[in-house]
Amino acid sequence: MNKKFYITTPIYYVNARPHIGHAYTTIACDAIARRQRMLGADTYFLTGTDEHGQKIERAAQAAGKTPQQFTDEVSAQFRALWARMGITNDDFIRTTEERHIKRMQELFRRIRDNGHIYKGTYTGQYCVFDELYVDAVGPGAPCPECGRPTETVKEENYFFRLSAFQDKLLQLYTEQPDFIRPETRRNEVMSFVRSGLRDQSISRSTFSWGIPVPDDPKHVIYVWLDALANYITAIGYGSSHKGAQEAFRKYWPADLHMIGKEIVRFHCVYWPAFLMAAGLPQPKSIMAHGWLLFEESKMSKSRGNIVRTETILDVLGADALRYFLLREVVFGQDGSFSFDALVQRYNADLANGLGNLASRTLTMIARYFRGEVPYPSAAISQKAGDSAIAESARKVIAECSTLFEQYQFSRALEVAWGLVAAVDKYIVDNEPWALGEKQDEESRSRLGTILYTSAEALRIVTALAHPVIPDATSRIWAQLGLGDIRKFPLSELKWGQLQLGTKLGNVEPVFPRADKSAIERMQKMEEQQPGGPTTEAQPDAAPHAMATLPEAKPAPAASAAKPAGTVPDGKISIDDFARVELRVGEVKAAEKVKGADKLLRLEVDLGTEVRQIVAGIAESYAPELLVGRKVVIVANLAPRKLRGLESNGMIVAASPDGGKPVLAGFLEDVPVGTRLK
Ligand code: MSP
Repeated sequence: MNKKFYITTPIYYVNARPHIGHAYTTIACDAIARRQRMLGADTYFLTGTDEHGQKIERAAQAAGKTPQQFTDEVSAQFRALWARMGITNDDFIRTTEERHIKRMQELFRRIRDNGHIYKGTYTGQYCVFDELYVDAVGPGAPCPECGRPTETVKEENYFFRLSAFQDKLLQLYTEQPDFIRPETRRNEVMSFVRSGLRDQSISRSTFSWGIPVPDDPKHVIYVWLDALANYITAIGYGSSHKGAQEAFRKYWPADLHMIGKEIVRFHCVYWPAFLMAAGLPQPKSIMAHGWLLFEESKMSKSRGNIVRTETILDVLGADALRYFLLREVVFGQDGSFSFDALVQRYNADLANGLGNLASRTLTMIARYFRGEVPYPSAAISQKAGDSAIAESARKVIAECSTLFEQYQFSRALEVAWGLVAAVDKYIVDNEPWALGEKQDEESRSRLGTILYTSAEALRIVTALAHPVIPDATSRIWAQLGLGDIRKFPLSELKWGQLQLGTKLGNVEPVFPRADKSAIERMQKMEEQQPGGPTTEAQPDAAPHAMATLPEAKPAPAASAAKPAGTVPDGKISIDDFARVELRVGEVKAAEKVKGADKLLRLEVDLGTEVRQIVAGIAESYAPELLVGRKVVIVANLAPRKLRGLESNGMIVAASPDGGKPVLAGFLEDVPVGTRLK
């Protein structure tokens, strides 16, 4: 019987549209799933969306929609994007689906019946952004994970006896060393668990957008317990249908939960403890990858520095993005995204690398051998260069398999592309085009050997790279006359399988070269996104630190709405002024913006939220001196992008003629969030 392989992505929050950070995880899982299928495993690949909780409820409110309408829309965007990218997920689960809700409640019941849930009162802090109970910080204190202000919660809750699982968890990590990967994350988790675990609140009662606690519907189940359960509900846990029960028996435990590093604790501490409490087997492995950074910081909606996947698909296609992310970023570590690096890699490795090797080799076979794979000459008359290629191909097959097995995508691709470079050099050294002009037997035989060797190496790289760049490799495979690459049994890949006389398919280029305008086109497409109007072209022209207030013009909408002549020329009415929401904020973090001498990126606490603001005050203020300082913010300014960073508000400063800006401030202390009027 075939081995099974069950792989999952995190289910994505629907408070934001998908960006390439989400695509990164999904692409890595898709590459693993495709490879497992080629290896013959009965593979099941799950992804989906996480749709309950206070954060989503508030995002829906802010969008003026009901939570259901809102989650329907955003979840559909994720689903459509994965379909457009050719992601081969076998299922897509939404936590608002009936099947999940019922089965999730079943899991809750089981943990409760096993005696691991009790009722108590939680008084403490909660971070809505991370949907995280925050212990050991006082009212108003920032969340230790994201720095946003926490909210004080006092509610009657259901608690999970997490403290009872401390020793069992440590035993699990020791007995199953691959349970948490990479090693650094494993060490972090172990020291966190060793430091002591407190019982965990697992219900909320002050809002209703969630799954009701069975038999006590005033409470909704804590969104992380709800979300983690998707990994078992999707494959049939808790269902009374026979088929679903069989699927659960077949696929659980998961072979791999792939996650980003920020959600390690939920997956490596809470999830295994919930499973233990329910008496269910543990997943085999949890792999945490690093963050995709854009202009030095984590790509995320709240920072406003996201890059949409669609832009890259429109200009370069899905294979280019897949190859770039898996080749450029060392899996497990953080890595930067930039359009320049993307296009550079695309041209170097895909257009000039694999694409060029394919079109050169196949075109010559078409021209000199009427499109049929030629005979290599007998081993005895082969040259050292020919067998060197065969030898290095054998090594590449072995090394690549090991590296893919360890999820070292970047190294695996580097090794495979080493073969591309070796064959390129082999072709240049042997000048098959010169031999092609000659008709004598020896030249024909030499030419046959060179082209067979090149085509066979091309076939091997194509098979190895298929999980990463499925579209282009399918086409090269068909051009080699080999049919459907997905049916090729990868574990049997070895040198010499290319059959002599194989008739090539239609030869056409797979990776057209991208010119410089590709970068500009992608940048423009991103800048023109709603909510992210650009000022990137002139980043220092109008940063969000403004000069003396009186220079501010009334908003056009206000002046248009006002009957002419109500106030004298050049003056504004008190109503106009009231439209400007000035508030006291406190700088929580400040740093220089790379490549912009005048700009600082600030995180400013407004009492109700922490805002990112980009301000042109770097020449006057060292970032470290600003932290803790109270400033005046124009809080209702439309967001704008500066150097790819979203600025949500403006800091008020005086700008003396020819001098440096000076921040407005207060002599007496004023509470954060206070309005100026
Ligand atoms: N809903 C939770 C997960 C519940 S799983 C039971 C969640 N959602 S999320 O949408 O905020 O992020 C989920 C995942 O998206 C991250 O763990 C990571 O895999 C991926 N990424 C989102 N932004 C990313 C980057 N900038 N870089 C790399 N991965 C990113 O947390």
